[in-house]
Amino acid sequence: MLKTTILLSLCLFASGLIRGQKAKTQGEIEETKILTLVKKMTLEEKVGLLHANSKFYVSGVERLGIPELALSDGPHGVRAEINRHNWSYSGWTNDSSTCFPPGTALAASWNPALAFERGLVLGEEARFRKKDVLLGPGINIIRSPLCGRNFEYLSEDPFLISAMAVPYIQALQSKDVAASVKHYLANNQEDNRFKIDVSVSERALRELYLPGFKAAITRGGALTVMAAYNKFRGDWCSENDYLDRQILRNELGFNGVLMTDWDAAHSTVKAALAGLDLEMGTDKKDYNEWYFANPLIQAVKEGKVPLSVVNEKVSNILRVMMKIKMLGDKTREIGSMNTPDHQRAAYNSAAEAIVLLQNQNKVLPVDFAKLKSIAVIGDNATRKHTNGGLSSEIKTLYEVTPLEALTRKFGSSLKINFAQGYEKQSTFYEGNNKGQSDTKKVDWKLIDAAVDAARKSDIAVIFGGLNHDFDTESFDRQDMKLPYGQEILIQEVAKANPNTIVAIIAGSPLELSGIVNRVPSILWAWYGGMEAGNAVADVLSGKVNPSGKMPFTLPVSLEQSPDHALGNYPGHDLRVNYEEDILVGYRWFDTKKIAPQFPFGYGLSYTTFELSGLNTDKPLYHKDEIIHVKFMVRNTGTTFGAEVAQIYVSEPVCSVLRPFKELKGFEKVFLQPGESKTIELPVKISDLAYYDEVQKGWKIEPGDFLLHLGTSSGNVVQTVKIVVN
Ligand code: BGC
Repeated sequence: MLKTTILLSLCLFASGLIRGQKAKTQGEIEETKILTLVKKMTLEEKVGLLHANSKFYVSGVERLGIPELALSDGPHGVRAEINRHNWSYSGWTNDSSTCFPPGTALAASWNPALAFERGLVLGEEARFRKKDVLLGPGINIIRSPLCGRNFEYLSEDPFLISAMAVPYIQALQSKDVAASVKHYLANNQEDNRFKIDVSVSERALRELYLPGFKAAITRGGALTVMAAYNKFRGDWCSENDYLDRQILRNELGFNGVLMTDWDAAHSTVKAALAGLDLEMGTDKKDYNEWYFANPLIQAVKEGKVPLSVVNEKVSNILRVMMKIKMLGDKTREIGSMNTPDHQRAAYNSAAEAIVLLQNQNKVLPVDFAKLKSIAVIGDNATRKHTNGGLSSEIKTLYEVTPLEALTRKFGSSLKINFAQGYEKQSTFYEGNNKGQSDTKKVDWKLIDAAVDAARKSDIAVIFGGLNHDFDTESFDRQDMKLPYGQEILIQEVAKANPNTIVAIIAGSPLELSGIVNRVPSILWAWYGGMEAGNAVADVLSGKVNPSGKMPFTLPVSLEQSPDHALGNYPGHDLRVNYEEDILVGYRWFDTKKIAPQFPFGYGLSYTTFELSGLNTDKPLYHKDEIIHVKFMVRNTGTTFGAEVAQIYVSEPVCSVLRPFKELKGFEKVFLQPGESKTIELPVKISDLAYYDEVQKGWKIEPGDFLLHLGTSSGNVVQTVKIVVN
């Protein structure tokens, strides 16, 4: 009995209860451990944690059990191993990974569950490769149709970006791998990305460019953030006190690691004080000469950077290490690579992303059993894309092309007449930039062969669009046109065979006005990752009913899009002013009443849906309340399918300009034929606010708000009014 009492007292004492203290939380225990470690470290050891020791690694402190930190690209797969001290691949045989379709395709699925699934797979594969930080997701706003990295990003809309980025990050980090949301901030073009100075109004910053990062940090719990290359209002993003210290640290409460993009550091003292933690990729051979190496030690010794600032950075690094179980936690995820489940996830992601843009005369789905022959045309029918795009390129275990998939699935019962149709031109390099020699060249020999193939086939499918000579890091496209004479190819093939289907493989907007009236059916199939061919073949055959929706507006021509209409892309004298302000993407098209080729949120299905019964739980709300929006979705056709019901909100009368409408909710609803579901979506009144530049805060003006239920930004089926008082 006595023994038990003593034991109990000891336990209570240890837990602090007898001393009248509360038990320590996990967070407090972690902070104590961090403090203890920091106290034991020399200045040199601390600074060793704040810059890379090679391309993708950062030194640890062996004597204290702090391991090396391993980082890896990229957003849609774990990049193959790169040599420590140069950019060549290491040539490993065990680093072929699962490759998902890139960001725009993820967003096109409008399915957050797929983002979560992707995060889990990436986490497992990163751990298998012994990586600690995965450099993604890339969540910059798609501002210009020409940005070379649009394919890596998600959308033109911050609500959709946030809805996809948050589950991706949560899932990835649940596998003990830190996400790195990039590129913070306003890296919306590749042209001059190392030099451009971006001016954005405070309102556009708050309403468009920041929300994705805010959601990633506050809802997703992102452990690291990558600062962009460009300048923002005169200061480099990696040393921008407003962005890094005031917003990221003070407002958003971010206490993870802020790292540079590769070779984006510009100073020691300024960057250190602004809140940068980790310097990566600096183009100096001697790592000791980097800004956050010897110069930082010197700056501390000279009193220019307080030791407390260095301690803060070291703590941030250790905190991330602790959260991903790097500091001696035996329960850390071991990971796995290329399992059938991973490959299935890549397939699901590719299949659900495909958008059916038009389908006249129900040419799709194709009943392959009834066909005798099919013409498969286009360079993209046989081109593999996963190994392109620069930092997001993936050495994938396999990549199924459309021609391979069609041959495997239907080749035994029908004749496949393949024709290349157009040729990818050679690529050249100019300084850091990659370009194409002649993207407008029409090759009539190839077109004639394609026409011949189409003429002798029951149907023709053209796989066209872009490739990673265009959709790539480092430079933007010159125009929005289909390259290599594809428009003429498509027109000629369509003349030869009225049953011509076009599948666009691309990650950013293209001008389709020259083909929409020539062919009955168009699919937007994106870069589909390792399962690209299987996904598109299954959509063609109807095994999969397309359910993707465009995550960006497809303008009729480049001049329609705001930055080009206003002439403020790519800027002048290395400055770019985002003059379109809050009117990016569909916000511009809607407000200015410009009809695009295909609107944001658009996509058809092989079945039909009816949306009805839109209502709210009450008519009048206070500013701190939530609207419970209710409606019904019914599959009125004969095929299983999914509709993405979208809720947009507008405020018709307001003292400041408001976009005509803005996305504030959506749900992808899967339904059997005849089935219906009642959907309830919460919309916070606080999310209807605008950013008031005068009062420097969010503001809701009492009055009427309209809630629109639609299947795209161009198709609103019902509207209800609510009043906010
Ligand atoms: C890109 C980053 C990438 C890094 C490392 C940079 O050029 O902008 O997105 O993570 O390289 O490869």
